[in-house]
Amino acid sequence: MGFPRQRMRRLRESEPLRRMVRETVLAPSNLIYPLFVKEGTDQQEAILSMPGQFRWSIDRLLKEATDVHMLGVPAVMLFGIPDHKDERGSSGYDPNGIVQRAVRALKDHLPGLFVMTDVCIDEYTSHGHCGIVKDGRILNDETLDCLRLMAKTHAEAGADMVAPSDMMDGRVAAIRDELDQGGFEHVPIMSYAAKYASCLYAPFREAASSSPVFGDRCSYQMDPANAREAVREVQADVEEGADVVMVKPALAYLDIIARTRAEVDVPVAAFQVSGEYSMIKAAAQQGWLDESKVTLETLLSIKRAGADLILTYFAKDAAKFLNAATP
Ligand code: PBG
Repeated sequence: MGFPRQRMRRLRESEPLRRMVRETVLAPSNLIYPLFVKEGTDQQEAILSMPGQFRWSIDRLLKEATDVHMLGVPAVMLFGIPDHKDERGSSGYDPNGIVQRAVRALKDHLPGLFVMTDVCIDEYTSHGHCGIVKDGRILNDETLDCLRLMAKTHAEAGADMVAPSDMMDGRVAAIRDELDQGGFEHVPIMSYAAKYASCLYAPFREAASSSPVFGDRCSYQMDPANAREAVREVQADVEEGADVVMVKPALAYLDIIARTRAEVDVPVAAFQVSGEYSMIKAAAQQGWLDESKVTLETLLSIKRAGADLILTYFAKDAAKFLNAATP
């Protein structure tokens, strides 16, 4: 039964009907807001390559988190910018480090906000790599000790979920072990499972001053050419105990999101990364694209591909747009 009996346009005629047959719905509750936290008080330092994003001191972070929470976004993801960096990233697992203090402050002031933390040493190492470096190589197993401590100190501070982003092998199992031994068996792990060696992280690295001082991240992050390998990464992380698996970046990797959704039954997250944010911002500033429309269309596409949760620097704006559009 083809045309003219079948007419696809019938279901597109009216706005209420389009709404009734819509397959994918984006809501503020799908979003997670990444935030950068730094030392000091009353600081809101603009990140030049990410217009509208800032490095916050803890006091100002509380206000920003309150605003986004009131818009219906349930969670934030914290990235720390320490004053002190060294070879092992020890400021990252200091029980009194910047993220640990920020978590405590957030949980004190906003107990209803779900606080997630990025677990990775690159923001805290002098060389900018996500692992311990020896003779120009990134050491896998030695790095796990740092990650264990970082995750544990985050949980002790009150983090509701920890998210390892380093791409070392075995980190999910190591962190699960450490959390369980420390009495944090209730704290879930979201692993950055399929994390690609992408140029789209450049604005983030400016924000966190975390560019590697030598070489690149290709010996641990994934080759953008590989899809089957992503399935292996995701399955390995689920076997090691990941509660949620993430694909990152998002828009250029929708096939990987869809494949991950088909392969595993745990919730799937996707990270619309800094470069994706900055591209949209730049085009909008030029007047070439409508910012609210392109923001919502890209986020909807990421959800349609299979992501249940989306980390996005647009979380606050998108929640505003969504709340305004709700009939
Ligand atoms: C590593 C980490 C990075 C991002 C999240 N966690 C940077 C990297 O791998 O170089 C990138 C996020 C973004 O670009 O928005 N701690």
